[in-house]
Amino acid sequence: MKKFIVIFLAVVFVSAALISCVQADSDTERWRPEPAVFNPDWPTLIMGTSAGFFPFEFVAMEGEAVNARYAGIDISLAARIGRELEVNIEIMDMEFPGLIFALQSREVDFVAAAMTIRPDRAEQVNFSVPYFTAGQWAVVRQDSPFQSIADLAGTVVGVQIGTTGDFSVTDGNINFQDIVRFNQPAPGILDLIGGSIDVFVIDAAVARAFAATHHEQIRAFPDMDFFGAEQYGMAFHLEDTELRDRFNSVLERLIAEGYVEYLYSQYTTYFSPAQ
Ligand code: ARG
Repeated sequence: MKKFIVIFLAVVFVSAALISCVQADSDTERWRPEPAVFNPDWPTLIMGTSAGFFPFEFVAMEGEAVNARYAGIDISLAARIGRELEVNIEIMDMEFPGLIFALQSREVDFVAAAMTIRPDRAEQVNFSVPYFTAGQWAVVRQDSPFQSIADLAGTVVGVQIGTTGDFSVTDGNINFQDIVRFNQPAPGILDLIGGSIDVFVIDAAVARAFAATHHEQIRAFPDMDFFGAEQYGMAFHLEDTELRDRFNSVLERLIAEGYVEYLYSQYTTYFSPAQ
């Protein structure tokens, strides 16, 4: 248990350090968080997420939290939906692979964690309408020769455990020398910079964020074609179709109004066109 806590704290500190670099670069154009409202007359829903996944969910710096200590596209989006549905949103942060179980055991009421809608997951949870299109990108060291995923045969690849990055490299047809699975992305990126892995495969926006933060050491390149497009959905208990539908009605309108795109642009102002 002690070991677990130490590892957990290490991950939190590393993530915070990586995130603070991102923020230092974007001092002039910070996002302006709309704090989540708390109304004692409203019911409270617990949202499961897995922070350390900038720009979707991360532990925020002082003054930038949207909800408790957290900020990100999913946190802002959930705060906005909560306000419209008149429910308070409380955040429960955990490792990504635990989220579906937390939903099934009703430890959380819904999940917003940049979670890709997949047929196998849809048997276990009720997904919302898709709200964001993503895909897998590769992050490599700046001085490496790799240009496409196909060039990476024979290398050691890192992924976040239980994610579509993990499934893509595990089930794909590239022969990696080894696959290293990390609980969180940040330690994997540090190992990439340190040289113990050759590539890290992760969702596009997150790859871009890490590359922007550490542009002297690493770069990211798109290979969505290789692994295919993915779409994020919020997830609900299989029996909670009514709650899911209430979220959907707001979410559909927010997407149509361009609110999700607006959040994306707010949280990624520091991406340079070259990335
Ligand atoms: N989109 C990927 C998946 O669904 C990765 C999500 C990881 N999310 C997170 N909050 N760490 O598997």
